[in-house]
Amino acid sequence: MKFEFENPTHLVFGAGRLSQIGEIVSKHGKKALLVTGGGSVKRNRTFERAVSSLNAAGVTVVECSGVEPNPRLSSVMRGAEIARNEGCDIVIGMGGGSTMDAAKVMAAAVNYEGDPWEMIAHGQSNWRLPTSALPIITVPTLAATGSEMNGGAVITNEKTTVKSFVIAKCLYPRVAIVDPELTLSVPQDQTAFGICDLITHVTESYFNGADGTPLQDRFAEGVILTAMEWGPKAVADGNNLEARAQVQWASVVALNGWVQVGTAGAFPVHMIEHVLSAHHDIAHGAGLSVVNPAWMRFAAQTRPARFAQFAQRIFGLSLKHPDDRDAAMEGIDRFEAFLHSIGCPTRLSQLEIGDALLERYAQDTVHVIHDGEGRLPGRPPMSEKDIIEILRSAL
Ligand code: NZQ
Ligand code: ZN
Repeated sequence: MKFEFENPTHLVFGAGRLSQIGEIVSKHGKKALLVTGGGSVKRNRTFERAVSSLNAAGVTVVECSGVEPNPRLSSVMRGAEIARNEGCDIVIGMGGGSTMDAAKVMAAAVNYEGDPWEMIAHGQSNWRLPTSALPIITVPTLAATGSEMNGGAVITNEKTTVKSFVIAKCLYPRVAIVDPELTLSVPQDQTAFGICDLITHVTESYFNGADGTPLQDRFAEGVILTAMEWGPKAVADGNNLEARAQVQWASVVALNGWVQVGTAGAFPVHMIEHVLSAHHDIAHGAGLSVVNPAWMRFAAQTRPARFAQFAQRIFGLSLKHPDDRDAAMEGIDRFEAFLHSIGCPTRLSQLEIGDALLERYAQDTVHVIHDGEGRLPGRPPMSEKDIIEILRSAL
């Protein structure tokens, strides 16, 4: 029980908070690079409202639109160049996790010496993390990643087909403006994928973290139960603002570090999924929905008690004894059924992924991160063979 915790992001949460963007940003900068995705913020008028608030507060806006889902390194380079050429002094990421992640890395790339890809973990011997960035403001329009209030970003190098992460102190946004009204237009499938993503953020630390963290267990279970209660309501009726707000708050808490404090866990399901979305450009939450239950069935063989606890506390199953494997497996089945019920895929075939590249996925996964024996960190650590077995079970 030794740990430190700091999350410097100022959170501004609640319906209607977008109207404060000008006032908030003007405290940190005067010329903003406003980073957006493929156009949803224009269609739902979030962009127009943000720009008029920014201009009214004396902030000039330079646009960088067109960040794609699973954001690419070339988009990051493009945005950083615009920021540099235009002399921007602040970066706003307004969109889903992809847009916010790209904006964060653009902000760091502006001052970074050398190739920005060196910031991203990809098996290099000398991982040069960024140490400074332009001030970052995040405005999430989709409840999923938690990127708005953490120091992480995930970028794809389209030339090498490697998708991986950077985590650095300078990537924490100064302010996260989290306005659930902005998520009302998220389509049903993306809403469901976001729910799966946020749940997976806490199952990673729940199942892979250190032993003896009972309070963190309860936080994680609270996030899961809240997402399972309110998520289906948001999926069923996208205009249900109350459900959107509960889901979005859960998504912030799931990965702003609080649930993970002291657990020191690896994120193996994420590491495997990132390889799938690198190769197939699938939605991150959809990939997780397939990989997570398959991984859980694998990991439950070595630690049934942990999965039995999950079954008991999330699904109310009664245990015959703490190591009750049947209950553990029943809990995983029910979890998978929940994902299916909100419209998430649970088989690779639903994502049109076959068995042709299973070995490659496993190699790419451990290439990004591995222990001294070449295994993917987690509980249990996994060899390439284990990863192939997990993916094969999900075909
Ligand atoms: O591009 P636009 O037109 O904005 O459309 C997006 C996109 O097509 C759309 N969308 C977003 N907000 C909307 C909306 N459509 C209608 N109304 C709105 N209000 O949704 C689609 C998906 O967007 P994307 O940003 O890709 O989704 P998400 O938020 O799930 O982000 C996924 C990315 O984040 C990474 C993932 O790997 C993936 O690259 N992650 C980032 C993390 C982090 N920084 O902490 C952690 C996560 O585990 C994850 O790895
Ligand atoms: Zn995720």
